[in-house]
Amino acid sequence: MKPSNLFPVSLLIALSNAQQVAYGQCGGQGWTGLTTCVSGYSCIVQSTWYSQCVPGAASSVTTSTTKASSSTLTTITTSKASSTSKTSTSTAPGAAATGFKWLGANEAGAEFGTAIPGVYGTDFIFASTAAIDTLMAEGYNIFRFPFMMERMAPGSVSGTLSAAYLANYSVPINHVTSKGGYAIIDPHNFGRYNGAVITDAAAFKTFWSNLASAFKDNSKVIFDTNNEFHDEDISNILALDQAAIDGIRGVGATSQYIFAEGNSYSAAWFWNTTSDALKALVDPQGKLIYEMHLYLDSDNSGTSSTCYSSTVGVDRIVGATEWLRNNGKLGVLGEFAGGNNDVCLTAVKGLLQHMKDNSDVWLGALWWAAGPWWGSYIYSFEPPSGVGYTYYDATLKAFLPSA
Ligand SMILES: *[C@@H]1O[C@H](CO)[C@@H](O)[C@H](O)[C@H]1NC(C)=O
Ligand SMILES: *[C@@H]1O[C@H](CO)[C@@H](O)[C@H](O)[C@H]1NC(C)=O
Repeated sequence: MKPSNLFPVSLLIALSNAQQVAYGQCGGQGWTGLTTCVSGYSCIVQSTWYSQCVPGAASSVTTSTTKASSSTLTTITTSKASSTSKTSTSTAPGAAATGFKWLGANEAGAEFGTAIPGVYGTDFIFASTAAIDTLMAEGYNIFRFPFMMERMAPGSVSGTLSAAYLANYSVPINHVTSKGGYAIIDPHNFGRYNGAVITDAAAFKTFWSNLASAFKDNSKVIFDTNNEFHDEDISNILALDQAAIDGIRGVGATSQYIFAEGNSYSAAWFWNTTSDALKALVDPQGKLIYEMHLYLDSDNSGTSSTCYSSTVGVDRIVGATEWLRNNGKLGVLGEFAGGNNDVCLTAVKGLLQHMKDNSDVWLGALWWAAGPWWGSYIYSFEPPSGVGYTYYDATLKAFLPSA
């Protein structure tokens, strides 16, 4: 869930330059910013409301993707640029696929709202340990806990952590890990802080040093660099992801997995073009996993219960599977979901089966999303009555690590 105060940023960046940056917006309904792109990029119409600077645009196949927000809809687009064609002939880096290591759900709530710091119980909430117990009893073994950096580190990215927010946030995390599950620490900030793209890698390293210190003795915690970077240069994301790894390892948190996210809202669909540079990341502990996200509706936005097709899940992930294998990397699908209908059900099954068949490179997947405040949200996985939970629980359970 994206705080609405975060997104005038790309506009400010756009207006400060003569030409729009790579992957920046360059047109669309209501757009008053720059309409030409930096050298090597062209402005491509992605929809009536969005045009974007994409590389090698003349022969690109363009597609668009959007991301839901609690109160607004932010649209981004990206392209499957026709770069050099690559043929996959390499073999898997790992052992033969036997199934997932992890299957679980996001646990949204602590990142909700736009008020900073906001009021507990009004603007934001923490995950329900009772609901988590229901899911864990069924065999789900990984949960991702979004939070807002401005609440965790008030004042600045490198600021001292809020003891009160951290204490509340830690309750469901410690609950999960004490029962043997894995808990993902997710700064759900889209690579922004107070609306500005984070560019200070040193400050970001400090943020991660501070946070990792709080969990360094818990090997079942997983550190997720940041939720869904977008509309920024991949070189900045590479620097931030590396700074996170360095900050985490530097304080002695050496036993945990680290999940690194990429550009274009960490989209699996576009990973092989927009996030390819992240293959340069280095983790001295060798426990780095690439976290990607994938939605099944027409624009990859996760805002509709209608799926593009019954094969859309596989269609949008095969490129990422190939990227992982060709580069000897491991991946996890940190967010996915589908509506409660037959087309989506078939697409979800196909997606999970493809991932399971390639579980030498795909370690698991997490549904978006459980959480106490979803109400009738189309993908709610909150037991006992969430729409997604009642419709998809049996399907997902067939892919549990224990299944
Ligand atoms: C933490 O949770 C308690 C309730 O258990 C609440 O009273 C308090 O306001 C919360 N504080 C924060 C910062 O979330
Ligand atoms: C990238 O992935 C997409 C699927 O998401 C695929 O169609 C495309 O061929 C891939 N491109 C390269 C260069 O691997």
